[in-house]
Amino acid sequence: MRHYCIETYGCQMNVADSELIAGILEDDGWVRATDAHGADLIVVNTCSVRERAADRVVGYLRSLAPLRRARPGLRIVVAGCLPQHLGERLAERLPDVDLFIGPDAYRRLPELVADPSRDPHFALARDRGETYEDLSPLRADGIHAYVSIMRGCDRACTYCAVPFGRGRERSLPAEAAIRATREAVESGFVAVTLLGQAVTSYREGERDFAALLEALAGIPGLCSLRFLAPHPGDLSVRLLEVMRRHPVIARHLHLPLQAGSDRILTAMRRGYTAAEFVDLVARARRTLPEISITTDIIVGFPGESDEDYARTVEVMETVRFDSAFTFAYSPREGTHAQRFLADDVPPEVKQHRLSAVITLQERHSLERYQARIGTTQEVLVEGPARGTPDRLFGRCSDMKAAVFSPGEAEEAEEIRAGEIARVEITAASSHTLKGVRRR
Ligand code: 5AD
Ligand code: SF4
Repeated sequence: MRHYCIETYGCQMNVADSELIAGILEDDGWVRATDAHGADLIVVNTCSVRERAADRVVGYLRSLAPLRRARPGLRIVVAGCLPQHLGERLAERLPDVDLFIGPDAYRRLPELVADPSRDPHFALARDRGETYEDLSPLRADGIHAYVSIMRGCDRACTYCAVPFGRGRERSLPAEAAIRATREAVESGFVAVTLLGQAVTSYREGERDFAALLEALAGIPGLCSLRFLAPHPGDLSVRLLEVMRRHPVIARHLHLPLQAGSDRILTAMRRGYTAAEFVDLVARARRTLPEISITTDIIVGFPGESDEDYARTVEVMETVRFDSAFTFAYSPREGTHAQRFLADDVPPEVKQHRLSAVITLQERHSLERYQARIGTTQEVLVEGPARGTPDRLFGRCSDMKAAVFSPGEAEEAEEIRAGEIARVEITAASSHTLKGVRRR
């Protein structure tokens, strides 16, 4: 028997792609190894979005060198955004790799792995039509499944490596998206997250993202329908209305702000102003008062002055996000910003701004989480809480994590992963709600 293992870096899209790769390999007779030491094939699914992510991948691959020497037949494959983005230049840094394969070429993986004639192989041809609609991902056990409904991104934000890794936008036909979601639910996954780099630009003929979401919301047995990540530039009023009509759709929007200065937003080519972003949040909260809004923020973009940075803080103060991923700008090869804009914010200034936005966000998160104390939330149970097995872990409809005690003993036996518990929130940190199950 031939054994494989997959190591995944990067975003949820990559997690979903690794499930697709696992499906392709198992259809070809491969069996999952418990870890890299027992594998005949190691697939490293990579990310190129930030320098740190790329460095970690290169570090991991270098750490495989002794394993490679110890197991002469071992094949190492680098998949995903990094080889697609950097091509043969990556091979110069990684001499031990047998195959570099881009996100449009996964169907060919078994055939390429079986062929040792070229060393290394490069399978980096782009295929604008590839959506893998007919393939079944192999998902880990649990209550939650990813369904990729589109691939690629046409937006060309000036800092962003994604279009280099993932190419042009293409949407899964709506019928295939509905079928994939139905199949996931039928095989026991009660929560589904629809994925796309800018998922709100989904389109198939007349059907836009709001229409697709509405069609999916009616699937019997589905308890929570989520999507990542919308783009503030194409989040429609209709979409908010669809969310309002269907409580099965999570009360959560991950809306990447990136920056609060209009000058920087223009230089990033984000396609909205700070005022438009703030209005959008206000409209979302008017339509769905219980919604949580999370975001991504970059500090230290080329040309970001103290004044520009102060605008980011100002928008954060106005919106008060439920949580945020915060990053210091790093130039990515080939992007407009790397080629044409000087990376002129000194590293210590970037770090200082980053620490300050992290501290500010911690304060806002704590405030937003504590505001839930005293309310009763419907929590979709995922299983025992890590570290405290007498408690359960789950997510509220707005995606906040909740840890709770299951109540009386006989009730505790009743509640299982995939079911919804009514939980009274009694305490909160900036990342987790705590509470007690109520009847
Ligand atoms: N530098 C810093 N952060 C970046 N991101 C994307 N590209 C860069 C970059 N060059 C951040 C953005 C994006 C998130 C996934 O990563 O905030 O939303
Ligand atoms: Fe995901 Fe972008 Fe990283 Fe690719 S480069 S794994 S699309 S975050």
